[in-house]
Amino acid sequence: MAILKIARMGHPVLATPALVVPDLKSPEIRRLVNDMVETMIDANGAGLAAPQVHVPLRVVVFQAPDGRTDPGLADEEKFDHTAPLTVLINPEIEILDPAPEGGWEGCLSVPGLRGWVERPAHIRYRGLGIEGETIERVARGFHARVVQHECDHLDGRLYTSRMGDLSRLIFESEIRHFQVAS
Ligand code: NI
Repeated sequence: MAILKIARMGHPVLATPALVVPDLKSPEIRRLVNDMVETMIDANGAGLAAPQVHVPLRVVVFQAPDGRTDPGLADEEKFDHTAPLTVLINPEIEILDPAPEGGWEGCLSVPGLRGWVERPAHIRYRGLGIEGETIERVARGFHARVVQHECDHLDGRLYTSRMGDLSRLIFESEIRHFQVAS
């Protein structure tokens, strides 16, 4: 396994639509997925898409841990809001409710910044896991956000291009000014 170099905003690979993975069984794909997981964990990210490591293929890895969910959620509501470490190949997203929800996003390709992005908060996604199994889930909240953010990378989009108000593109060290004191 290896920690891969992450492309930063401005590199053309981040603006290029990625290609469908034709053969999941190739050793190169397995190595890519393993390296992406290691790279994401090393960089303390919630997700990573293959174009971010200079590989223009439709592969994402992500996780939506319990600690990222809205603290007001009851335990029985949390199910769609969380996801274990997941590898998703050739993913597709279906929007179940287009009503937008705003949230702060960061990106390993846009280091040090945060942006306020509105996205549909209720989606279904499907794709293939590393063993070729079909993965299909309903996602809400942060889980829906991270999947949409990562899949945008596969279409050559960064979260900054989803922002409606660029005054909410800020350095992460200043985010305290936007949070309500508790
Ligand atoms: Ni990103």
